[in-house]
Amino acid sequence: MTDRIARRTRPAVLLAALSLAAGCAAAPTEDPEPTARGEEQSPAPVDCSVARCIALTYDDGPGANTDRLLRILDEHQAPATFFVLGHKVAAGHDTLRTIREQGHQIGAHGFSHTRFTELSDAQLAEELARTNEVIEQATGVKPQIFRPPYGAYDERVAARTPMPLVLWDVGSNDTRDQDPQKLVKTVLAKARPGSIVLMHEHNDSTVRAAAPLIRSLRKAGFTLVRVEDLFADTEMRDGQAYTRREDGSARRG
Ligand code: NI
Repeated sequence: MTDRIARRTRPAVLLAALSLAAGCAAAPTEDPEPTARGEEQSPAPVDCSVARCIALTYDDGPGANTDRLLRILDEHQAPATFFVLGHKVAAGHDTLRTIREQGHQIGAHGFSHTRFTELSDAQLAEELARTNEVIEQATGVKPQIFRPPYGAYDERVAARTPMPLVLWDVGSNDTRDQDPQKLVKTVLAKARPGSIVLMHEHNDSTVRAAAPLIRSLRKAGFTLVRVEDLFADTEMRDGQAYTRREDGSARRG
């Protein structure tokens, strides 16, 4: 009996380990039963040249709201991208690890939220290096994308940034409006296939808008993805700015 349970348990454990290695949201289970057929296969990667993909992004964390936002995203199995501030990492180690464990993408947003256009080359390099370092220490993963604070960049900043710059095409105006219903309305009005949505998790209203926003976007036929999924079939280049995915599907949308 014990032997049989052990034999039956092994594939589930292996699958859990593989899922974790692949960065999936699936958590290891204590359930010794073999998983149902559907659960044994990891979901097929989304093809954003066909699907109406959209990337939700949350800036300026981790902070007091992040854990609450993560629970909502987890409940809805909704992937997102977090552009993290280096100076907030020390107080948010556990939260950052949860972001990672739930399968979201972590990008860098500078250390002190300074306009990069006003920094010297040396200061800019320092901001990038320190931020990447603390994020990597906390999560074990080096960020692959960077969002300049305030979206402020110029040719010099781009040339000095050894990462792709990820901007947005859908501003949610969440910091100005502070109204969940308005946020959903604003994003839905601007969203196109391939869009990147800018939000700020320190706004309470943005966290309250998360569930209705996810439901509304899905109802409108969108597939939520991380930024890296949005550009999975493209080589994202260092120093190049990306505001949305643009291809045949996006143009038709
Ligand atoms: Ni910011």
